[in-house]
Amino acid sequence: MIQTKTTIKALQVALDNERKAGKTIGFVPTMGALHDGHLNIIRHAHEENDIVVASIFVNPIQFNNKEDLEKYPRDVEGDIIKLETHHTDYVFAPSVDEMYPDEVKKQYDFGAIDKVMEGKFRPGHFNGVAVVVHRLFNIVNPDNAYFGEKDFQQLAVIKRLVEIENLSVTVNGISTVREPDGLAMSSRNQRLSTNERKKAPLLYKTLKKASENQEKETVEEVKRYVIDTLNKNGFSVEYFDIVDSKTLQPVSKWNDSDNLRGCIAAYLGNVRLIDNIAF
Ligand code: PAJ
Repeated sequence: MIQTKTTIKALQVALDNERKAGKTIGFVPTMGALHDGHLNIIRHAHEENDIVVASIFVNPIQFNNKEDLEKYPRDVEGDIIKLETHHTDYVFAPSVDEMYPDEVKKQYDFGAIDKVMEGKFRPGHFNGVAVVVHRLFNIVNPDNAYFGEKDFQQLAVIKRLVEIENLSVTVNGISTVREPDGLAMSSRNQRLSTNERKKAPLLYKTLKKASENQEKETVEEVKRYVIDTLNKNGFSVEYFDIVDSKTLQPVSKWNDSDNLRGCIAAYLGNVRLIDNIAF
């Protein structure tokens, strides 16, 4: 039976007991509106730990757009049922006051990795993510924490956070779960109109085609192809960069790095979609 905790104290008392009984703890932070992408992460956590803790908290300080925060889908009761079906032991669903009793002043220095892509177009976003994840790590004190590769830069930022703050948690990245037509699952997909939803799979289709053309084309040509294809078909591309997977810095030649990732953000109407693919 899943247990829901809304206060830090109550969760910590329960988890202290689990730890005393020698149990390992896997943690999956989320903002709710759960889909199979989230639930697949829960599945991994369940395989690798004795106890699984999920959090549901729509973190206001990581939204740089007020409308995006207001429109963020919420269904905590439905989420808890899904978590229970996937053998989650505890769900932590705190209020904003519980997480942020005081004004947040912390500023992290992630160097170059949060100055590009999402970090560049969503100022303050990763600082807000890092603040909440750091607090959640301190509350839950997990052995393992799990994040999706769908948010590729977020995963890199959190790995850096763990390094900078010398935290004892192991951060694990889990592959992106997609709809049958290739669209990466996202809570924001619910906001696509019927027509936009029909167009949306072109995002991943184009990334896939681009990665297949890597041998034949230069980095610049591949980038042009992705941006032009999508912009001609109803998307508005915010960025598409081919970056080193660790430093997240854009490359200009294929042999600038032996581990490359193509990362994109594009609008369909008002809905901002992100995705990425290995090159
Ligand atoms: P949220 O968007 O709810 O995502 C929670 C976790 O699920 C993240 O690690 C995200 O990368 C992963 N995820 C989302 N869609 C996925 C998909 N289609 N396939 C695989 N994994 C997927 O990311 C956040 O919340 C927040 O920024 C958070 C880390 C909770 C901090 O507030």
